[in-house]
Amino acid sequence: MAAEYKTYDEAAKSIDDTLAKMGLDYLDMMIIHSPQPWVKVNQSDDRYVEGNRAAWRALEDAYKAGKLKAIGVSNFQAGDIESLIETARIKPMVNQILLHISNTPKELVEYCQKNDIVVEAYSPIAHGEILNQPQIKEMASRYGVTVPQLCVRYTLQLGAVSLPKTANPEHMKVNADVDFEISKEDMEALKDFRKIESYGASSAFPVYGGKL
Ligand SMILES: NC(=O)c1ccc[n+]([C@@H]2O[C@H](COP(=O)([O-])OP(=O)(O)OC[C@H]3O[C@@H](n4cnc5c(N)ncnc54)[C@H](OP(=O)(O)O)[C@@H]3O)[C@@H](O)[C@H]2O)c1
Repeated sequence: MAAEYKTYDEAAKSIDDTLAKMGLDYLDMMIIHSPQPWVKVNQSDDRYVEGNRAAWRALEDAYKAGKLKAIGVSNFQAGDIESLIETARIKPMVNQILLHISNTPKELVEYCQKNDIVVEAYSPIAHGEILNQPQIKEMASRYGVTVPQLCVRYTLQLGAVSLPKTANPEHMKVNADVDFEISKEDMEALKDFRKIESYGASSAFPVYGGKL
């Protein structure tokens, strides 16, 4: 659901409009894209507590009506989830967050997992920006895999659902072939791998602005 919808009516309408546009009776899942409207991300400290509670009520009602099979959030910090849970009838089932080697928000992952909220890792290959890091390349070759495979496996071993994106069918096959085990020591090293400096041409997008 677009991050802009922060009233019950807007959110309920957006659910029905989406189903109508897609010609479907139900969707497998819908999530609130961000606690803050997109234009406010990185620009404001307002976490839109009441707006998110209102949008969440619309998601809960659609879930109860069978229009959505799962409901969740995205880019929510622990505090945002706590505020939501205070008035929620149903706990978020999923939190979809920026999670990849060099960006591992350990406390948030732990918080979600302790609260039975599935963590989904978006941009697990760092939007492509991790592909040329020499240390990561070296570790991948030690396991006899590619960097994207190491990246996907890393997020899976953190207990997350990994959401790699590719327009290339060969890459898709490779990204699904991750039946190997990263050692405990290497997992720890990857958790603390230094932040990549930039997401290239995509750096201007709010999701890569460092606050989500
Ligand atoms: N909730 C949110 O706020 C949010 C924000 C951002 C993204 N997302 C979602 O997260 C998903 C992934 O996002 P992302 O595009 O940043 O993903 P990503 O998987 O981190 O990176 C995609 C890039 O990696 C390349 N790539 C993928 N597999 C490869 C392989 N095996 N070998 C070489 N290059 C490979 C792709 O190029 P090729 O196409 O050439 O393979 C593409 O350039 C998307 O579905 C997106 O909708 C959600």
